[in-house]
Amino acid sequence: MSSLAAQFERDGFLVLPDFHPAAACRELMERGRHLSENYRLDGKGSVFQTSEQTKTSDAYFLESGERISFFFEKDAFDETGALKGDLFRSLNKIGHALHDLDPVFDRFSRSPQLKVLSASLGMQDHLLIQSMLIFKHARIGGVVDVHQDSTFLYTEPDSCVGFWFALEDATIENGCLWAKPGGHRTSLRSRFARDGKGGTRFLELDPAPLETDGMQALEVKQGTCIVLHGRLPHFSQPNTSGKSRQAYAIHTIDPTAHYPMDNWLQRDRRALKGF
Ligand code: FE2
Repeated sequence: MSSLAAQFERDGFLVLPDFHPAAACRELMERGRHLSENYRLDGKGSVFQTSEQTKTSDAYFLESGERISFFFEKDAFDETGALKGDLFRSLNKIGHALHDLDPVFDRFSRSPQLKVLSASLGMQDHLLIQSMLIFKHARIGGVVDVHQDSTFLYTEPDSCVGFWFALEDATIENGCLWAKPGGHRTSLRSRFARDGKGGTRFLELDPAPLETDGMQALEVKQGTCIVLHGRLPHFSQPNTSGKSRQAYAIHTIDPTAHYPMDNWLQRDRRALKGF
């Protein structure tokens, strides 16, 4: 086992500075801005809010696994449903098939250094199943409650791994990630599934609450890659600062694991590709 793989197994996460050059981070942010400027809000926008995920699971959300879809901050709209401010600065994220549908995101998601990293972690055969450009804009970027990524990309056995890239410096003030070394050595608490009626529900696997005691702020520089074990509890606080905290995340699964038909995110399995 490589020393990186041993560290990942021990801690449940890896912080790898200088993984991508600043120019690659800027190119991805510019591409996100370009996609946002070409997006036309038609009717009511879809809000993404981790504390209300079953309530905000509309058809637009459920179909986003195969698309490039736009999600707004909960405070982006007034009581009449109109955007309060600039569309770009009201966005929470874009997801969830950027890595397959957009050439710039595709290239970033399948970089030579990521191929090397996935191989050293023994994940060279993993499939990229989801991607998100997370804006966490200044002053409006909302909280992401403590969660485990395997809840949202559930496989049997558990195999989800997240690769989180800081496109800008992430600090306590602008809402960096928080996690505890070794925190992944715990059970998966729930899975987020389709309810068969056009919505979603959380299926409880273990009623024990996720603890945030002992978590550390993962303050990182632009270009850093953070690898996250699917069972590692993590969260981020709202961005109360004047600086955005853009990040790009991709999630992978082991192709030999079972992927249930009622997982919220459904892709044509034959269309999934690796690194
Ligand atoms: Fe997460």
